[in-house]
Amino acid sequence: MQFNEPATANPIDRQRVVGKPLSRIDGPLKTTGRAPYAYERHDVVANQAYGAIVPATVATGRITRIDTAEAEAAPGVLAVVHHSNAGKLGKAKAITARLLAGPEVEHYHQAVAVVVAETFEQARAAAALVRVEYARGTGAFDLEKEKGKAVKPGRSADTAVGDFEGAFASAPVKIDATYTTPDQAHSAMEPMATIAAWDGDMLNVWTSNQMIDWARRDIAETLLIPKEKIRVQSPYIGGGFGSKLWIRADLVLAALGAKAAGRPVKVALPRPVMVNNTTHRPATIQRIRIGADRAGKIGAIAHEVWSGDLPGGGPETAANQTRLLYAGANRMTAHRLATLHLPEGNAMRAPGEAVGLLALEVAMDELAEKLGMDPIELRILNDTQVDPEKPERPFSKRQLVECLRIGAERFGWNARKAKPGQVRDGRWLVGYGMASAFRDNLAMDSGARVGIDAKGKVTVATDMTDIGTGTYTIVAQTAAEMMGVDVDDVIVLLGDSSFPVSAGSGGQWGANSSTAGVYAACLKLREAVARKAGFDPATAEFADGFVGQGNKRVRLSEVAGREGLSAEDTIKFGDLTKRYAQATFGGHFAEVGVDAVTGEVRIRRMSGAFAAGRILNPKSARSQVIGAMVMGAGAALMEELVVDPRFGYFVNHDLAEYHVPVHADIPVQDVFFLDETDDKSSPMKAKGVGELGICGVGAAVANAIYNACGVRVREYPITLDKII
Ligand code: MOS
Repeated sequence: MQFNEPATANPIDRQRVVGKPLSRIDGPLKTTGRAPYAYERHDVVANQAYGAIVPATVATGRITRIDTAEAEAAPGVLAVVHHSNAGKLGKAKAITARLLAGPEVEHYHQAVAVVVAETFEQARAAAALVRVEYARGTGAFDLEKEKGKAVKPGRSADTAVGDFEGAFASAPVKIDATYTTPDQAHSAMEPMATIAAWDGDMLNVWTSNQMIDWARRDIAETLLIPKEKIRVQSPYIGGGFGSKLWIRADLVLAALGAKAAGRPVKVALPRPVMVNNTTHRPATIQRIRIGADRAGKIGAIAHEVWSGDLPGGGPETAANQTRLLYAGANRMTAHRLATLHLPEGNAMRAPGEAVGLLALEVAMDELAEKLGMDPIELRILNDTQVDPEKPERPFSKRQLVECLRIGAERFGWNARKAKPGQVRDGRWLVGYGMASAFRDNLAMDSGARVGIDAKGKVTVATDMTDIGTGTYTIVAQTAAEMMGVDVDDVIVLLGDSSFPVSAGSGGQWGANSSTAGVYAACLKLREAVARKAGFDPATAEFADGFVGQGNKRVRLSEVAGREGLSAEDTIKFGDLTKRYAQATFGGHFAEVGVDAVTGEVRIRRMSGAFAAGRILNPKSARSQVIGAMVMGAGAALMEELVVDPRFGYFVNHDLAEYHVPVHADIPVQDVFFLDETDDKSSPMKAKGVGELGICGVGAAVANAIYNACGVRVREYPITLDKII
């Protein structure tokens, strides 16, 4: 169905099941270790062999020789596949670096070979016996050095409205500051892993992937086989954060290894290889200039961003939110892209905004201080209900101001001392900080098939994924609400390319788009059920396992009969997000302590208020947001991939040296969702929260650090050496 806004009243509004804080229906499987993750699918196909990849030890250059004799003679080895015996491979358009190197090497730890053996240990041992010789090339690895050569990337336009330079020059109060953010690693708990099995010319893969249909497309383009000959299954995923939006070397090399060995092959990327072999969030340099009048009205705002990527890659679009967040007549944004020969940069949780707000929201704090104004009042004064670059384009719904006011109240913002360094608690200097949260709300077409059987059980099948976000549960809630059955009577089947193509999990569009697809399929099924029962589909009611009209009602199981009934549909959004600025909003608040002697920072509590349309499940939504707040705290305080500029790789490529916080690092988290529906987002009237939660967190922490001790650090992460 085509979604025509505004969404009218519909069965979801009943909120008998949708909107309830149900525990995740996949929770017991996960907490008891029975959820089948890709690498553990011993049951799906017999005779599985193990593949171990050989990663490149240079960042650029050419492979001059591969000697596999010793590896091939090692115990249990079945095959060694590399560029000269892999056959012809294509290049997936969506992936910047090739997944099998050779003879050119594009980045450090790019896979150069896979060794297949009977056991994991044999494969790993033999992989160490593959001798690879390289003619090492040169490369550019330092963003700061390459900044001057950065160009305007093809995929991202600059924006300009009015006369920024003129307005900025004449503004009575202004700030001009540059911020830097480092390369970051997704650090999902489950590594990339795939089992590949050929059945004649048909390829079956069990993998860990956020976007099933994209995976199929990318496999087809890489292996040069028809999409129809590929089945991808990924029903359980141990985190993605964008690292699994596209296929990676584990999948391609498992498929090639399986072909060569004539057996199913499984490959997992070891943790120390993942960081340099796959993708990361690119480092940025961001210059922000804001000019305001003495009352705080912004008249000029500019955000310029520099990032780097491999040739053919894209920019980190960190200026995105600055186009939409605050009013101001004269404005400009620009992204500039430098060529870097580091591993491929790509999407990581809220690409763009997550790091853009680390700069913009600190700049706003700096401006508020110059103005002698409360930072919340500065933001409220510059709120806008229309796209500031295209005033004819309204926001579908925007309650930023409400989020800031409610968030401030819940946090106890009033107790904040405007002047830094005023509050002491033993050895700790204590400060408060806040930031706006903003993240795009994208809408993606999404399909589902829904059936009902003679037992009254409703089965939903869609290639949508659950990356730990709660998809199983909200899909079940949606179908239960629509069909008027208990949530326990809904069976949800996800992550299989034999099911209708869904929105997939990315860009926080998954929840709203995929449930809207289930809604569309359920509408069709309701119609079929009503007709078969002899009711008018327009007025038939579905409740308690019955379909009814007036005082007549029939059990759904009876209507379904032995044959059962099923329906399939796809929700289509057309140009919806072009006509409306669709976004999600919030306010983040943080209280930190800074050790007066060592500069060590501890977060004492965090609080946030968010407006993101209808919250489909307050429990899983809260879980998304608290997880995102922890991740945002990591961006502020510790996450940083350290580049070795001599050899062009990330040095700290495991979780021992790439530091991420855990929930225990943040003793108190308060999350509040505004009671909101957005009738222009979808029939669900919902939006996403998974990425909103990380957007702005780090800036709130940075601003709290400044408020605590008076040190303004503009280079993330804010480690203690930068404070003392
Ligand atoms: Mo998200 S970075 O689109 O998984």
